[in-house]
Amino acid sequence: MNPTVAPFPAARLRRTRQSGAIRALVRENSLSPQDFIWPVFVRDGVGVEEPVASMPGVVRRSVDLIGDAALEAASLGIPAICIFPYIDQSLKTADCAGAWDPDNLSNRATRAIKDAAPDMVVMTDVALDPYNINGHDGFVVDGEIINDATVEALVKMTLAQADAGADIIGPSDMMDGRIGAMRRALETAGHQNVMILSYAAKYASAFYGPFRDAVGASGALTGDKSTYQMDPGNSDEALRLVQRDLSEGADMVMIKPGMPYLDICRRVKDTFGAPTFAYQVSGEYAMIQAGAQNGWIDGQRVMLESLMAFKRAGCDGVLTYFAPQAARLLNG
Ligand code: PBG
Repeated sequence: MNPTVAPFPAARLRRTRQSGAIRALVRENSLSPQDFIWPVFVRDGVGVEEPVASMPGVVRRSVDLIGDAALEAASLGIPAICIFPYIDQSLKTADCAGAWDPDNLSNRATRAIKDAAPDMVVMTDVALDPYNINGHDGFVVDGEIINDATVEALVKMTLAQADAGADIIGPSDMMDGRIGAMRRALETAGHQNVMILSYAAKYASAFYGPFRDAVGASGALTGDKSTYQMDPGNSDEALRLVQRDLSEGADMVMIKPGMPYLDICRRVKDTFGAPTFAYQVSGEYAMIQAGAQNGWIDGQRVMLESLMAFKRAGCDGVLTYFAPQAARLLNG
């Protein structure tokens, strides 16, 4: 598009900003609770709601409380929840077998949500890190994160999640070839309607810090994830990854983190036109909450402005820890 503007004073661009009603009329993008996927942390125990210190307002819930959270989300108009398990350090292993246990925390939470709120869309995370003794998303052999054996494990994990009732599988591991392998396995197992939202362009980011606290992976992680997650200096590579994942059968794609990577969101949407999501990650959430708690920024306004930015950048929706808070505000 090449916008033409009449010379002043024929054009006074302030005319369409003169009142709230006119601004509403010409607003190009909108934000609604329907745009949100709400990431939640689950843990073991009964009746437990434990605050995550580095993410004020976010809790880890025991599985028995997750149904109520889902009902609350549904009543606010939030269509989807994404489950992340907090696994006790003593239960992490090198073979990561908990990842494909049909009764692991994540799969129990999926069933609890579906029991309480059958229409709630359940998304699950596919990566080995919550179960891995060394905190990596894949198996580690001689200090190397090995690809193909990890993909086999991720396929087992995917099938267990689909069997538990997950609607959307979210591979966040960044191994090569996993989308095709997962798609084939789902088709073969009769899960042809289960969707894959690929974490296609996932950067090796320091913005994940508070999340690793929330899932108990910070202590565990040896080294960093830069042999599989993307270099923050790259942009064309994101397009190649998205293209690759779509060609292997991803139904939707994600860019992560969100706000520092809005340029990637726009390029991905413009290039492929596929359903595109961004993940406003834990560090982004923590920064806004910290600024607000100190009285340095207006937390509510910054929250809504940050979420609108994703829509403006071309995203169809956003994974955000703010989902219930933002939905409450948007619903008035
Ligand atoms: C791990 C995973 C991470 C997040 C989602 N899945 C962290 C990581 O890659 O270390 C980050 C989410 C957030 O920071 O909010 N597979």
